[in-house]
Amino acid sequence: MIVQPARRLDSVEEYYFAHKLREVRGLISEGKDVINLGIGNPDLPPSAQVIDRLRDAAADGTVHGYQPYKGIAELRQAMANYYLNTYNVSVDPEREILPLMGSKEGIFHLSMAFLDPGDEVLVPNPGYLGYASAARLAGASVRLYDLNEENDWLPDLDALEKTDLRRIKLMWLNYPHMPTGAVANSRFFARVSDFGARNGILICHDNPYSQIDNNEPLSIFNGGSMNNCVELNSLSKSHNMAGWRIGMYVGAEKYLKHVIAVKSNLDSGMFKATQLAAVEALTLPTDWHRSQSEVYRRRKDLVYHMLDSLGCRYSRDGVGMFVWSQVPDEIDNVEHFADSLLHEKHVFFAPGFIFGSNGKRYLRVSVCAADERIEEAINRII
Ligand SMILES: Cc1ncc(COP(=O)(O)O)c(C=O)c1O
Repeated sequence: MIVQPARRLDSVEEYYFAHKLREVRGLISEGKDVINLGIGNPDLPPSAQVIDRLRDAAADGTVHGYQPYKGIAELRQAMANYYLNTYNVSVDPEREILPLMGSKEGIFHLSMAFLDPGDEVLVPNPGYLGYASAARLAGASVRLYDLNEENDWLPDLDALEKTDLRRIKLMWLNYPHMPTGAVANSRFFARVSDFGARNGILICHDNPYSQIDNNEPLSIFNGGSMNNCVELNSLSKSHNMAGWRIGMYVGAEKYLKHVIAVKSNLDSGMFKATQLAAVEALTLPTDWHRSQSEVYRRRKDLVYHMLDSLGCRYSRDGVGMFVWSQVPDEIDNVEHFADSLLHEKHVFFAPGFIFGSNGKRYLRVSVCAADERIEEAINRII
């Protein structure tokens, strides 16, 4: 007997990385020394004081029960302080902050909370795959909007406004942008917020990279209005805590209450010791973030050298933990090129097509690997 999966699963594919990383693990089990420059999984550790806090908190006998759906008050306050200190944005920790288990789950919550079958969602091409998957799982349709180098990887809002937007309910934005590293400024955030207000669209900004190799971290609320914008943020990249699963929703209560309605039916709160350690992480000084960014910058210099020798084009102004690079014309299929580097040189890069058709001439190179590993990759490739 076989029980058929739900039809909603027809609309989502297995995450590219899930099957590619199986292939990588297969090579490793055959004894191949694969250098993974494909994924944005920080290899650097969290601050020692964060780990100490987790250990001490876990040893306290009173932390092991269920926790409030809204997170503990100390964590919401620490998140509000973080917004004030990092972005100069004031938020009410009682009503406008919701701790999440990573921003990925927030993408799903927002989609479940606001989308019905027949609704449409604006999703960036190229962009993070989670926005489209969550929309489809919620039964909505995806309308891709183009990002390209000529437009500095920013949406053409005037062109979008000439289209029929009546079914569009949410628009996903993500700056600093993954995979390109492009940034937006507060003027753009104000414009997109007005665009949302005029057209009845909730602007959902996903902001996990603002602290990585970036001199000017911005929130959508530097320009955008709480009336029709919400933001997701995350400690995964900014605090080297991807496996801890800590993120946050920031936005007006009128939207947050619907997110809680979904979330409270899915999980039963986050382990208190993790929340207390997250409080510690959120109080790390700017210098700590600066020191992490210096490591990434040094590694990017190595990657530039490698890309030069491959004849790739890239910008040195990209923010975040990736270098987005255009392959030379003589390489006609970037997926095959990435596969040949994986199988022949045992170096894994993410081909840009997986982030959308506008990425098909690009490779995304992660700097989440030690300098020596990147140097070794250079030796194998050059
Ligand atoms: C743009 C973007 N959004 C969200 C996520 C998910 O982050 P989190 O670990 O907070 O769920 C990622 C992770 O790679 C990402 O690149």
